[in-house]
Amino acid sequence: MPALAINGGEKTREEGWPSWPPDDPGFLANLKAVLESGIWGVSGEWTGRATDMMCEHHGARFGVPVSAGTTALEVALRAVGVTPGHEVIVPPYTFVATATSVVAAGAVPVFVDIDARTFNIDPRKIEEAITERTQAITAVHIGGSPADMDPIMEIAREHDLAVIEDCAQAHGAIYKGRKIGAIGDVGAFSFQSSKNVTAGEGGMVLTDDPDIYSRAWSIVNVGRVPEGGWYDHRVMGWNYRMTQFQGALICRCMELLPAHFELRARNGDYLRERLEDVEGVELQELTAPDNVSAFHLYIFKYAAEAFDGLERDRFLHAMAAEGIPCSRGYNPLYREGVFADRVHLDEFPFCPPYYEGEVDYSRVSCPACEHICDEGGFWMSQRTGLADEQAMDDIVDAMIKIQENLGELSEEGGGSE
Ligand SMILES: Cc1ncc(COP(=O)(O)O)c(C=O)c1O
Repeated sequence: MPALAINGGEKTREEGWPSWPPDDPGFLANLKAVLESGIWGVSGEWTGRATDMMCEHHGARFGVPVSAGTTALEVALRAVGVTPGHEVIVPPYTFVATATSVVAAGAVPVFVDIDARTFNIDPRKIEEAITERTQAITAVHIGGSPADMDPIMEIAREHDLAVIEDCAQAHGAIYKGRKIGAIGDVGAFSFQSSKNVTAGEGGMVLTDDPDIYSRAWSIVNVGRVPEGGWYDHRVMGWNYRMTQFQGALICRCMELLPAHFELRARNGDYLRERLEDVEGVELQELTAPDNVSAFHLYIFKYAAEAFDGLERDRFLHAMAAEGIPCSRGYNPLYREGVFADRVHLDEFPFCPPYYEGEVDYSRVSCPACEHICDEGGFWMSQRTGLADEQAMDDIVDAMIKIQENLGELSEEGGGSE
């Protein structure tokens, strides 16, 4: 009788995983209040309330609610002065919007490799990518784990660059005792369905800088200015606004966030400790020991050598069969067709007269990112962190079971699902 579930053995975990969004009556109550108020868009009170809660939670002075995280990134880039001709440094291990938002702002993304221990942009590699065209750096708090902001800010100040924090996955995360979001010049958050705070879709820009706030507000509000009239359009702006329904959902999620955050962190810490029993699998490392990750994702490092050379993807199939669904995660962004296929490189904003540099994404090489995407990393979804300690034990037990029964996977046809 085989032991591994992929070969017909018993599954490690029969129970499912928590649902998301959470089943909570507060969402309906807030939505009903918006519906009945008759004010579903501008001049409603819920987007303002959501903004105040986000600012307070993250220790930021100003916030601008927007339609999506992708929009928040584009607005943040424009608000710090990114324009055609500029380059923005971004990591390649992230969601595509981190890079395409740069293109939406008319500039060119330049990829800088990540640190293979933390999966965050590697500050040691930023300086060599800076040119006279560089205007900004986007640091992504990947998986919810803060990027190493101190050296990033130091490099940015030295070279007069703006820093955008991509906080889409990191609501409430803490870097060296400080909440993320307004450590850099501006933070961009997402409230898309999978995020730790969600309204189905939505985003927010946070900043401590009144000028960045004012520019962001104008870009989102069809070029009006905060102190101006309704038909007073002084800036080139669009309608990137959030609805009151989104604001109402965010308000409830923000009330739930502290308990969720604590549960995710407790489970994450326990999982990290339990993984000490498993050779070859480790959680993403923190960039500073006292950081607290938002644990949007549980991101793991995988060393096939500790599994008799078992390829990561075969390991993940075996894990799924054990009742532990895992994902391979991202591709290096410069390998995505939108960048690698070169079809856009003759177009705005990649060509003269807009851009005077040369870009060929097929020649980019970020070895740490490639290793993690191709074979050395995987993750579990954000719902994982809301499960209980038993679930964390199940994750580790499944890994140990696979490791102890590798013979079953090396046999002809074994584990070929
Ligand atoms: C790191 C990162 N940046 C940006 C985004 C874009 O956010 P949205 O989907 O709300 O546009 C996401 C999520 O989708 C993300 O994970």
